[in-house]
Amino acid sequence: MLCEKIEKELNNQLNRELFSSYLYTAMGAYFVSRDMTGFAHWMHVQAHEEMSHAQKIYNYINERGARVILEQIEKPQSDWEGVLDVFQNTLKHEEYVTSSINDIVNTALEEKDHATHIFLQWFVTEQVEEEASVSEIINKLKLMKDAPGAIFMLDRELGQRQLSSAEA
Ligand code: FEO
Repeated sequence: MLCEKIEKELNNQLNRELFSSYLYTAMGAYFVSRDMTGFAHWMHVQAHEEMSHAQKIYNYINERGARVILEQIEKPQSDWEGVLDVFQNTLKHEEYVTSSINDIVNTALEEKDHATHIFLQWFVTEQVEEEASVSEIINKLKLMKDAPGAIFMLDRELGQRQLSSAEA
């Protein structure tokens, strides 16, 4: 069994992962509307990965004999000031998700819930990778300084993104 506190925190995290998927779908739609199909593809893959994060938490709560309670999902933003703004917002969101995962890790340690602590290690590692990959895109965009040819090349590069095998 999960203690009530961890059950609640994991349900909150499930909601955040579902919101993340919703947010990245909104960002994908924004790129589609601007004919940036590679950036849109990257966001759609990201949205899919977030659904798989939600699924992992959903399964874990059930496996531990606790109850999944779905709450309302917040409406995401639908407009941004451009490609750089979208990825800066993505990084900000991922940093928020990282800190929420860290909070649950702290609770698991306080409650001496070793199983939840081990379960969350995958998410801790995943957040490091997610922040690093978004930071890399932001750095490239800053170097490009809105040069259309370079943006076009990056759009093509991000259009090659595949689902990671752990999340397909
Ligand atoms: Fe599931 Fe991007 O955090």
